Amino acid sequence: MPLPLPKAELHLHIEGTLEPELAFALAARNGVTLPYADTEALREAYRFSDLQSFLDLYYGLMTVLRTAEDFTELADAYLARAAAQGVRHAEVFFDPQAHAVRGVPMGTVVEGLAAALDRAEERHGVSTRLIMCFLRDESAESALATLEAAKPYLDRITGVGLDSAEVGHPPSKFREVYAAADALGLRKVAHAGEEGPPAYIVEALDVLGVERIDHGLRCMEDPALVSRLVRDRVPLTLCPLSNVRLRAVDVLADHPLASMLAAGLMATVNSDDPAYFGGYVGDNFDAVRDALGVEREQLRTLARNSFEASFLEDDEERRARYLAEVEAYDFDAE
Ligand code: HPA
Ligand code: ZN
Repeated sequence: MPLPLPKAELHLHIEGTLEPELAFALAARNGVTLPYADTEALREAYRFSDLQSFLDLYYGLMTVLRTAEDFTELADAYLARAAAQGVRHAEVFFDPQAHAVRGVPMGTVVEGLAAALDRAEERHGVSTRLIMCFLRDESAESALATLEAAKPYLDRITGVGLDSAEVGHPPSKFREVYAAADALGLRKVAHAGEEGPPAYIVEALDVLGVERIDHGLRCMEDPALVSRLVRDRVPLTLCPLSNVRLRAVDVLADHPLASMLAAGLMATVNSDDPAYFGGYVGDNFDAVRDALGVEREQLRTLARNSFEASFLEDDEERRARYLAEVEAYDFDAE
């Protein structure tokens, strides 16, 4: 069982928590035929060569998600698993464009997720926020239409993000929609520097005005950028097991997390798409401890960073409570 060190999860795609068992159950319920004989055959397909090979399977499998109840069940299953691994606060990404193409409207997705999030505190002891992601391999116009479709639900949505196939789709493509999101009072994050170059991280900061960088792994290739990220305490939501599965690093021992912490970067550890990448966030913490020798006080720093980087400005009392839990956590009490 992973260490239940209290933590916030800031980089988690709810569609990436779809476990094979639930995928087959929803497929049966919704009359969807999956191109896999069973859950074992599906798991066999989880051998990815890069981000795109994962995205092909990810978008394919989410065709089983149809009704608001499907999204509620998906989110509730994630929250239960996350809580068991010490998650006290989760900022959850969702991909509305990936559902709109199947005729599943924004309201179905948001209301379905919100039904689970609304009772997450009572059921699982987890506070939550929702972050709507734009698919960067879709057009800027589609992103603007997505923001428009989200307007009736903005009381449920804390911020916007940018995900999907990175290379060839620089942040500047989404300048207009981020400005519009900002004008609506939404928080801003973006995936950058997962497969794309360090220049995409700079663009996300300068052109989109993001407050956190999702992944940001490749910042290590640009010392001036590292200095800037350290100076400005820009949070990076790293996902170590994802980086191994999508071949951003060959093996976990090659992951730059330890160097990033040593450089003073404000790193956090997250699970990205845990059903696909071999573990939830606590498993990611365990993995970096075991493979990189990240020590107890550094694990505590990662947990502290996660709450400091979370969008809890509207509830500073809660953030202070979570931070006190991190400081009080006794590694020897396990
Ligand atoms: N990167 C980009 N887009 C994504 C990912 C990811 O790791 N997971 C789901 N969408
Ligand atoms: Zn991601």
